[in-house]
Amino acid sequence: MSKPPAPTAHYRPETRLVHSGTLRSQYGETSESLFLTQGYVYNSAEECEARFKGEDPGFIYSRYSNPTIAMFERRMIELEGAEAARSAATGMAAVTTAILAPLKAGDHVVASRALFGSCLYVVQDLLPRYGIETTLVDGLDLDQWQRAMKPNTKTFFLESPTNPTLDVLDIPGIAEIAHSGGARLVVDNVFATPIWQSPLALGADVVVYSATKHIDGQGRCLGGIILSSEAFIAEHIHNFMRQTGPSISPFNAWVLLKGLETLAVRVRAQTETAARIADVLASHPKISRLVFPGRADHPQAALVKKQMRGGSTLVGLEVKGGKQAAFRVLNELKLAKISNNLGDAKSLVTHPATTTHQRLKPEDRAALGISEGFIRFSAGLEHADDLIEDLTAALEKA
Ligand SMILES: Cc1ncc(COP(=O)(O)O)c(C=O)c1O
Repeated sequence: MSKPPAPTAHYRPETRLVHSGTLRSQYGETSESLFLTQGYVYNSAEECEARFKGEDPGFIYSRYSNPTIAMFERRMIELEGAEAARSAATGMAAVTTAILAPLKAGDHVVASRALFGSCLYVVQDLLPRYGIETTLVDGLDLDQWQRAMKPNTKTFFLESPTNPTLDVLDIPGIAEIAHSGGARLVVDNVFATPIWQSPLALGADVVVYSATKHIDGQGRCLGGIILSSEAFIAEHIHNFMRQTGPSISPFNAWVLLKGLETLAVRVRAQTETAARIADVLASHPKISRLVFPGRADHPQAALVKKQMRGGSTLVGLEVKGGKQAAFRVLNELKLAKISNNLGDAKSLVTHPATTTHQRLKPEDRAALGISEGFIRFSAGLEHADDLIEDLTAALEKA
């Protein structure tokens, strides 16, 4: 590398998404290079020794780091306003590491019950197997967070907006409760995206992303990232990831790095489309409930205004007639594709009760508002009118 990346923290997010973290080789390439290498060679045994001792800042092995991965991490650090980051092979590798790495047997975790299915597995099933106690709360109820706090509580974990019902949790309020009891708050910011919400600025200690979603945004590869303070990454994450190896591939990091360049443009356009769909369908006779953060009728509309800069690329729709009617809508859609993914350039539609949340007991799904007629619609980059025509035609047949 010819020189270290130029500082970009003083620029606005859109500019940081294009320029932050860029390292140029001696060839002066415009587009960031893909360093598809496992290892690095040293000029001397002394240089190699110095690198292993941490006295020379170069790369050692791509399980630890890699120039392309470092560019992705630096761009995310500057976007999020974090001090440090480590990327991972998937969003779940990032979530699991962020929660598990700092804990030991005897510790206690409090988490919102409204979690993506695999995150719920980590908290509810995996942690207790290693002697880490967990309590699930209704994330909307600050009293429940407060009452769940114990002397051994180390971590609070939540996602907001929640998957799939798009409830918005009070991040500053929950952070305050966590901190008053000496715990840290970890926020899964996948649904909000870094464009609409900055959990660290709202009081969270750690932010995690499935970069598989909006950050790639074109359905190509999986990835994840943990962002926090230098101290948290150095003390809890860095060595854990080096030794256990849930590392991202340099190729995937490169795809995600290039995805970041268009993130703001895509998320804004997809949110505008989602808002138009929500406005058109809110009073549709075949829909019994519609949830969209950004609409005045959202159950936490005041909180959305306070802690988010924009709504969502997703709309939650409850179709009258339960599972049969919901399946009919999914099967009738021509443009939006049936998929459990989200944040893609292609509009995707999911039936959470039979896919992402099928593992939950029916009564737990009902408590979370995931009824048999509930559909999650992830707006893509198609023209909003084409999507509205597709949805209204499918609803006619439901
Ligand atoms: C909220 C949320 N967190 C985490 C994940 C896990 O991400 P990944 O599929 O990249 O492991 C997902 C989706 O899969 C998600 O929707």
